[in-house]
Amino acid sequence: MNIQLMKGELCVITGASAGIGRAVAERFLEEGADLIVADFNEEEAKRLYGDNSHVLDILKVNATDINDLERLGEAAGKTGRHVKAVLPIVGNGPNNMIEDITPEMFHLTMDLNVFSAFFTVQKVLPYMTSGSAIVLISSIAGFQGGKNALVYNAAKAAVRSMARSFAGELAERGIRANAISPGPTETKAFSEFVGDDASAREGILANIPIGHIGQPSEIANVALFLASDEASYVTGAEVITDGGFTNR
Ligand SMILES: NC(=O)c1ccc[n+]([C@@H]2O[C@H](COP(=O)([O-])OP(=O)(O)OC[C@H]3O[C@@H](n4cnc5c(N)ncnc54)[C@H](O)[C@@H]3O)[C@@H](O)[C@H]2O)c1
Repeated sequence: MNIQLMKGELCVITGASAGIGRAVAERFLEEGADLIVADFNEEEAKRLYGDNSHVLDILKVNATDINDLERLGEAAGKTGRHVKAVLPIVGNGPNNMIEDITPEMFHLTMDLNVFSAFFTVQKVLPYMTSGSAIVLISSIAGFQGGKNALVYNAAKAAVRSMARSFAGELAERGIRANAISPGPTETKAFSEFVGDDASAREGILANIPIGHIGQPSEIANVALFLASDEASYVTGAEVITDGGFTNR
């Protein structure tokens, strides 16, 4: 018997048009979830989910804009249903050496990774009750000091910290919160990061003991576990999902 872990459960996912967010949305749909999806790229979201009756709403959202996130929360509220899980997956940031980081880049990176995650959760939280879960996407960058990425590293460290603080404050309401810290994962953002340089990709691969660059579906499986009741005793945790990259 195939038991669906999210059958009939309403979940809210940002960044669902590509990469890890898309893989999470597709995995949750396989597991019977009903979704509200949000992305900057509404056209692609409509192409992916427009015909799926389990996708209750597709919103064009800039996750750095508080008005858009308020609309996202309202969309969740309008369903009249309990939100089982919220997954703010949007994140990224320009890579620059310390001297080249401008105030604009600094704010953009913090907004894309920290502000967006926090306010996505805050706006959906009124519809979450005991048994709900928050799954944040940090990065192994959040506990490493790789060069060329100081603000992104700091932003992802803040995301890890937020997962623990959400967990601490919301435990008495029966709401769990955890973070996933992916390592290198095959998405458009990763391809842009590596560029055309085949040796850069080979260099990264050589440092992944499990022998392949992560697939978005491998992150989605962890997100599914953390969002589901299978993880009922897991809160304030971080699941490093990097093929052993940081375990060397
Ligand atoms: N790919 C990796 O190697 C990797 C590693 C560690 C952590 N992460 C994290 O995983 C998350 C997803 O990354 P990805 O690689 O799948 O990215 P991606 O670029 O492949 O996809 C990002 C999605 O978010 C949407 N988006 C971007 N900015 C937005 C905004 N301001 N508002 C709304 N939507 C927006 C894009 O349209 C796209 O659909 C990010 O938080 C990233 O930091 C990725």
